[in-house]
Amino acid sequence: MLISSLIQTAVPIAGALGVGAWITPGPWHGTPAPAEEFPVAQIVAQAPAILRPAVQVLADPALTEQMLTTLKLGSPLVGFPGVQGWDYARHGLTVDLWMLGGQCFEDWNNDNIRSQMATYLGVRQVTVSSPAASWVRLQVRVHDTLAEPATLPDLVHNEVDLEAVPVGIREDGDTWRVQVLYRHILIAGAMGSGKGSVLWSIIAGLGPAIKAGLVDVLMGDPKGGMEFGRGEHRLWVDFQWTAEGIIGMLKTAEKDMQDRAARLREARVRKFVPSVEDPLILIVIDEYAALSAFATREEMQEAMRLLGLILTQGRAVGFSVMVALQDPSKETMPNRQLFPVRIGLKLDEPTQNSMIHGQGAKDRGARCHEIPDTTPGVAYVGEDGTREFVRARAYYVSDDDADAIVDAYSPADEITGPTQDYSDFDPDDLGEEIPGDGGFADPAVAA
Ligand SMILES: Nc1ncnc2c1ncn2[C@@H]1O[C@H](COP(=O)(O)OP(=O)(O)OP(=O)(O)O)[C@@H](O)[C@H]1O
Ligand SMILES: [Mg+2]
Repeated sequence: MLISSLIQTAVPIAGALGVGAWITPGPWHGTPAPAEEFPVAQIVAQAPAILRPAVQVLADPALTEQMLTTLKLGSPLVGFPGVQGWDYARHGLTVDLWMLGGQCFEDWNNDNIRSQMATYLGVRQVTVSSPAASWVRLQVRVHDTLAEPATLPDLVHNEVDLEAVPVGIREDGDTWRVQVLYRHILIAGAMGSGKGSVLWSIIAGLGPAIKAGLVDVLMGDPKGGMEFGRGEHRLWVDFQWTAEGIIGMLKTAEKDMQDRAARLREARVRKFVPSVEDPLILIVIDEYAALSAFATREEMQEAMRLLGLILTQGRAVGFSVMVALQDPSKETMPNRQLFPVRIGLKLDEPTQNSMIHGQGAKDRGARCHEIPDTTPGVAYVGEDGTREFVRARAYYVSDDDADAIVDAYSPADEITGPTQDYSDFDPDDLGEEIPGDGGFADPAVAA
């Protein structure tokens, strides 16, 4: 069903129900059309076939009340939650209700109620969120709007907003953006869930800034350099895949972070802004847990200590960390709460939702364990400061795309790093042969 045709029918229906501005709780806009202009039969007849049973129930207040009674969410005796409005959406229908006094969100958002409601409405799934206190929003789902892979946009050379890097498509159709500057990002997902595509999508989004020298990527790939090796000497300022190498990389980064912090403190810089001289340093570690397979206990502790320091002190001075792992348990990543952006791809167990997204995450709408194997790259995204989760899908990045990203955004043909020790380099000394800089030995005088 085309969205445009959904919208055509949505307008009169929304009008019929008097729900001009129902999506945000508050005063309604506009004047509701008289109900008799849109009899239920007409509303149902105009609905897409797949949604007709649900529309039948929602368009007819008596049937809505019957459903709520059956589900024990209301009764003639205690009253009914107020259906404030419903409308067509990309996934099917969205319904906003005002909860009955004495009800709580969990009365609506539990697996039993959701599945009973889905059966009642004849749809694939109903999900529940709470956009505001006392409100519940039901998403009546017949389409998975993220079923199709999202195509990586053309590689561009524009300016990058490091606080809103495009990573994929949200389920409402908007671009999914992630803040990288002043944030750390944790990505968890089972094998093959699309962790690589999230990492590559973020790298692609950052690409122009990498090329411009505003972002330096330090890449740790403990799976043996398989996934990110193509960027070695090209896109990554440092690339390590051994335990020793990754710990060394963290050690250097931690020291650089302390030096930069001291420098900025001294200069009384109130807010760090990346520049070519002081770029955003993005430390990426894919498959963090794989480190433990070949690191000693002491090495793992050291890695965790260094990571902990960067996670707690790095954000304000332009050091961001992005870690991907399969197992989000406390044993693997005890610092979960230090990552303000958390991306949960498909996970095997319902209990893992709270490991990535915090306590009660499943009840708040994070359902990573329900993401089908057939849609890698789909994730529930949680961020500090918001209770709601965004469902989104990262761009699909093929091996060829990854090569193209490296080619397009490599700041140099080959990043080899300094090959000599320049630590006693004096920028004022332009060399013996250059007159006027003090280092020039005038042969006439010398003679
Ligand atoms: N965003 C996406 N859209 C469509 N298909 C995807 C997406 N991400 C991944 N895939 C498909 O799933 C496969 C596995 O993806 P990817 O390697 O990114 O997962 P992973 O979580 O990093 O896996 P592993 O744990 O094995 O490293 C890819 O080869 C690709 O075919
Ligand atoms: Mg991977």
